[in-house]
Amino acid sequence: MSTRREPLRCRILLLLEGLELTVSELCAVLQMPQSSVSRHLKALDEGGWVAARREGTSRLYLANAAALRGPDRELWALVREQVLASTAVDQDRQRLASILALRLSRSQEFFASAADRWSAVRSELFGQRFDLEGLVGLLDARWIVGDLGCGTGQTSSTLAPWVHRVVAVDESEAMLDAARSRLHEMPNVDLRRGRLEALPISDGELDIAILMLVLHHLAEPQLAIGEAMRALKPGGRLLVVDMLPHQREEYRRQMGHVWLGFAEAQIRGWFEELGLKAVRFNPVPADPEAAGPALFASSARQPLREAMPLPEPAAIGA
Ligand SMILES: C[S@@+](CC[C@H](N)C(=O)[O-])C[C@H]1O[C@@H](n2cnc3c(N)ncnc32)[C@H](O)[C@@H]1O
Repeated sequence: MSTRREPLRCRILLLLEGLELTVSELCAVLQMPQSSVSRHLKALDEGGWVAARREGTSRLYLANAAALRGPDRELWALVREQVLASTAVDQDRQRLASILALRLSRSQEFFASAADRWSAVRSELFGQRFDLEGLVGLLDARWIVGDLGCGTGQTSSTLAPWVHRVVAVDESEAMLDAARSRLHEMPNVDLRRGRLEALPISDGELDIAILMLVLHHLAEPQLAIGEAMRALKPGGRLLVVDMLPHQREEYRRQMGHVWLGFAEAQIRGWFEELGLKAVRFNPVPADPEAAGPALFASSARQPLREAMPLPEPAAIGA
């Protein structure tokens, strides 16, 4: 590709270094008709110098970084030097800056006019919960998480792609069967049958323990909290999600609830009596489509192991 014979192709390649442009954007920058730009793009594409992808009705072009780093790297470095020195390239750069400013102002215009309806557009397009599902990506990939009272495994299935292992425990064989079929493609979920008051989990096996919508079924929730603590590593975290106090007496009959929700003081009291640290408690913002009582989330930390006291100086020589 000589700069004398193909100056336009070199200018195109320069524009497409690290920046995707459509044919019409290239036409505007180069001030060339679409037919000429398309012809040059086709030749560059066939030579492997650019890559194209379709987005809706547009085709976006980008310089092929692998080709620019490959055997033709030295050729391109030489040609690039010569092209950079031309005034046409200066002009291209200035027009490119205006095109990019136009792209930006289109999105700024959209947000300026959409500020009052963005929340509605956001949930209409993407649903109410996608951000929470995405935030799970912040979890540490080395963690072992206990989903205690896992039911049909919904929480386990959200967590499993992001952590090392999920240990999912439930006493109900029917629930575990449903969890098994939901989680059969997630080999890092370890389903175990057992009771929350005597977990089938070794001391210090877990980095995180979750009690999601289970405490209200237990006669003595503090036993399950104590067991979760035993299963946590020093510094491991416990998360409880459950209902705030409510009046739905019928839940006792219909679903075997023992507790009609929990007040903050109750949860804090159990956590603190058991020695959990850094207790936090927050109501969960209500889902407008949910018919049940309001929920809270409360987290706390298993204390870090106490440092061994240093021996008294006298004892060292003894
Ligand atoms: C309301 S479901 C919640 C399931 C799941 N955590 C969720 O968020 O969908 C409560 C689960 O706790 C289990 N469970 C209740 N008491 C239990 C106990 N003492 N030991 C083990 N599992 C228990 C039940 O079998 C049920 O699967």
